[in-house]
Amino acid sequence: MKALILCAGKGTRLRPLTFSNAKQLIPVANKPVILYSIENIRNAGIKEIGIVVNTENKMSFEDKLGDGSEYEVKITYILQEEPKGLAHAVGISRNYLKDDPFMLYLGDNLIFENLKKYTQKFLKDDCSASILLTPVPNPSQFGIAVLNEQGNIVKVVEKPKNPPSNFAIIGVYFFKKEIFEAIDNIKPSWRGEYEITDAIEYLIENEKKVRSHVIYGWWKDMGRPEDLSEANRQILEKMASRKILGNVDDMKNIYGIVEVGENSEIVNSQIRGPVIIGKNTVIKDSYIGPYTSIGNNVFIQASEIENSIVMDNTTIINIEKRIDNSIIGSNAKLVRSDIRPRVLRFVIGDYSSFHYSE
Ligand code: DAU
Repeated sequence: MKALILCAGKGTRLRPLTFSNAKQLIPVANKPVILYSIENIRNAGIKEIGIVVNTENKMSFEDKLGDGSEYEVKITYILQEEPKGLAHAVGISRNYLKDDPFMLYLGDNLIFENLKKYTQKFLKDDCSASILLTPVPNPSQFGIAVLNEQGNIVKVVEKPKNPPSNFAIIGVYFFKKEIFEAIDNIKPSWRGEYEITDAIEYLIENEKKVRSHVIYGWWKDMGRPEDLSEANRQILEKMASRKILGNVDDMKNIYGIVEVGENSEIVNSQIRGPVIIGKNTVIKDSYIGPYTSIGNNVFIQASEIENSIVMDNTTIINIEKRIDNSIIGSNAKLVRSDIRPRVLRFVIGDYSSFHYSE
């Protein structure tokens, strides 16, 4: 069995982070979102993974993941030139998927559910599709399914104004080859996309069995910056043990679960976990508070930061107020200098946001 991960969307709601990085490659707890999906798929027993990419992000995925051997999977890249919808992305992958059953996984989803039992059940079942669902408080923002008493899906609808249920489609689906006929028979939706939800509705209308599994664990669709922050908190919360590979001048200043990567240095600084710090990073005369992830080659001096994500190669020096609930991209520079006149000087990319309070 193969899996298909879709990563060809535009990621507009995560700008500016998605100008330089595909959203599925943004690190959460120092690991790109897509690696959590790859591990999850591998743990379900699937080793062959097709990743649907677009012309802009293809190279970044290839650079980061290569042929997948580092992660014990075999990755094949499939190019979707325009984001014409999830069903279109599946349709163009037909040559890769052939006529075998497959798992479809939306690349911007984080889910920590063990998928093995659902995979095995699907392969033994006589259904055409099986879809993971979860109850949500805001059903208008998702694909929504209506179930009968046996737990079969009798209707699906994409982002309904008047939701017929609160069971959201979370982005993990299992399909058999009938889905391709369904995809060939649907038209673009009001938003101009070939919706996988419409293809599933076609299966139902043509009396094919579509099963469901309702999960109640933590799940997140990485649509907005606040989703990244929450995912970061959730993953750091689960960190089990302390791992200090770098150099810490005084262990008395390290509290709780903290990871410090190779060749990193913690000098005259207090670190309160859960915190993860990457490789070759220097933290000097600073405070790093709970739920913070700091990447590789970062330099932080005379600053305080908590509840935040700081990506690779970034410098933060002498910031007088505590940085809280922030996402700071890679190669950024935040520096306060004491030279007069005291001015604010910015080189900030498009769609960035800066909030300051006295
Ligand atoms: O997050 C769950 C929701 O995901 C479901 O409830 C919806 O039924 C489903 O349609 C989907 O809705 P979104 O509007 O959130 O989908 P999004 O455009 O964010 O795309 C999901 C992933 O698929 C993302 O990693 C980008 C990729 N994608 C998207 C499009 C439109 C492609 O690879 N190709 C595409 O053409």
